[in-house]
Amino acid sequence: MKFYLDTANVEEINRINRLGLLDGVTTNPSIIAKEGRDFEETIKEICSIVDGPVSAEVIGLTVDEMVEEARNIETWADNVVVKIPMTEAGLEAVHILSKEGIKTNVTLIFSVAQGLMAAKAGATFVSPFVGRVDDIGEDGIELIQNLNQTLINYNFDTEIITASVRTIGHLEKAAVAGAHIATIPGSLLPKLWKHPLTDNGIQQFLADWEKVPKKAETLS
Ligand code: G3P
Repeated sequence: MKFYLDTANVEEINRINRLGLLDGVTTNPSIIAKEGRDFEETIKEICSIVDGPVSAEVIGLTVDEMVEEARNIETWADNVVVKIPMTEAGLEAVHILSKEGIKTNVTLIFSVAQGLMAAKAGATFVSPFVGRVDDIGEDGIELIQNLNQTLINYNFDTEIITASVRTIGHLEKAAVAGAHIATIPGSLLPKLWKHPLTDNGIQQFLADWEKVPKKAETLS
């Protein structure tokens, strides 16, 4: 499973990148707003750090606006991917952009039908939002399982980015379901390597090490 960070925070990105765990980054207007920096400058900096796709979202809602923004965003870096919302205009824009070889990530996917249509329109990535599906009392992981099986059934190259990941359980279950990618908040990812039994084990080993006779003590 590829790990993306769902953040525009350069410190978080560098921290995970140093571990060799980072395969890409996703952003959206809310994430960009949190950093209080210029959009283009932020995306260009992230693209220069990350060796993988970096999603930057359009703001326009009409086909023409989305296509124009996408063509501009695409010039910012070789690894930039244009994020497009799942609407009728979005599907048309994705279709146009895919014919131009511009990579797209269709976002705000909440059903198998939406994911299937985005793939048919030519999306490089689709982003189903597991946490927000859970929020309305449905099962976000079931959506990942069903969408993944659907894309397999029809041999699509489109990759699933599991988005709105809120818990370690979301990540693990999406991996078991076969999602290609999880995009993980910067605050959640460090929790993946923590386990209380690991910490207890280290403490126990250090305590026991104190009981091992050291060379100087053995000689005296
Ligand atoms: O990846 C999408 C994400 O940024 C939305 O997450 O937790 O606001 O539903 P959340």
